[in-house]
Amino acid sequence: MGSFKDITDSLTLSPQAVLRVTDKFTEALSNRPADYGLKLLDSTFGRPTGNERGEVLVVDFGGTNLRLLLVDLKGHRAYEVLNQRVINLRQNRTGLDLTSDSAQADQMFGYIAAEIEDFIGIDRDYRLGHSFSFPARHLNRNSAILLEWTKEIRTKSVVGQDVNLLLQQALQRRGMANIQTKAIINDAVGTLLAGAYQNLEADVGSICGTGHNSCFVDEEGRLINTESGNFFDEVLPVTKFDRQLDDSSLHPRAQRLEKMVAGAYLGELYRLILLDLAENTDSFDQSIRLAKVFPARNSIDSADISALLQDRTFTADGKEYGLSTSDFQIVEEIARLLVVRSAQLIAATYLGIINHIDRDHQRRHIITIDGSLYEKMPYFAKTIQDTLHVIYPAHHHLIQLRFSKDASGIGAAVAAAMAK
Ligand code: GLC
Repeated sequence: MGSFKDITDSLTLSPQAVLRVTDKFTEALSNRPADYGLKLLDSTFGRPTGNERGEVLVVDFGGTNLRLLLVDLKGHRAYEVLNQRVINLRQNRTGLDLTSDSAQADQMFGYIAAEIEDFIGIDRDYRLGHSFSFPARHLNRNSAILLEWTKEIRTKSVVGQDVNLLLQQALQRRGMANIQTKAIINDAVGTLLAGAYQNLEADVGSICGTGHNSCFVDEEGRLINTESGNFFDEVLPVTKFDRQLDDSSLHPRAQRLEKMVAGAYLGELYRLILLDLAENTDSFDQSIRLAKVFPARNSIDSADISALLQDRTFTADGKEYGLSTSDFQIVEEIARLLVVRSAQLIAATYLGIINHIDRDHQRRHIITIDGSLYEKMPYFAKTIQDTLHVIYPAHHHLIQLRFSKDASGIGAAVAAAMAK
């Protein structure tokens, strides 16, 4: 039987443990990346000039939520988001969960095309940039083949297909020849494009949100998507809870790093730990009551963790629960440890990327980051910063972290403008 201390110890990473991950990630980038789950996909895009211009319609396909944006690129590194709308692919007007395996590609893209028609209203010409947050292999700037779904999406007949072709065909079926897809990019690549549009030194892009992934500019100036969320090696400090979560996920053994760090999974990991503490230890004053709070899978999400750490309210499934002071301290400690571990592991991969692109640490680097974890989760951004400092005290000042809101979508607009 484990104790509270055993659990907190297993979630706590020493600087040496973080450095081991950094070293392994560095090695994986240059030597047999596939053995470690990395993909190093060439996005077919390089850096923008910062002078790309024009109004671009953007589809930002992040996961179950998809966003449409109208972005005005003004040149001189400036842009404006003119309008935007969020679409939920799970709950929608069709009554069918378009992310489930009962849905087909043409239903999913047909729905997106209908929403686009409604969103733009008037019949004018638009270039379309697509930020598609899944692993895809590029044939050219406007076509990429989905390699596999991640983030628990299972829609049929999309894997193996050219995603922008599916979108363009759906638009044609609605008679919308005025909209031309011009570019498709991964969201991490989009984030880097948006960062590089604004700043010459931006050379790493990353998503810390529902999912996690990073990309970088290689020595030939190409933007490379690492699919780092799928990284796996024995150096990862996997606990029994990580294994439990992986075993019960839709895609076991896939996205192992992502399952330890990303917003889609933190809530479930947290639930598994609290349930174990309530059922198998005498840590809580009110363990019977607590065990009843979390009976179902995914009954707690990363927004609940955020609320706990920020507002000190303990919520699950939209309900608030009052806890004794000592029980609250326990749930708070576990939440903090999970968030800190996530940020430390992500920082380790950032350092791995910097080691790969600038071995002697001679240049300045800007890591552009988008995503709700980085934006909102208490402790998260600061821990990444602190970890860079602890691991590389002499060089950390060369690395700047910059949050960029909506960057994946802005980057898709930049990509469409670059593709002409
Ligand atoms: C998942 C996807 C990846 C995406 C990331 C962030 O890891 O596989 O392509 O960039 O989520 O959305």
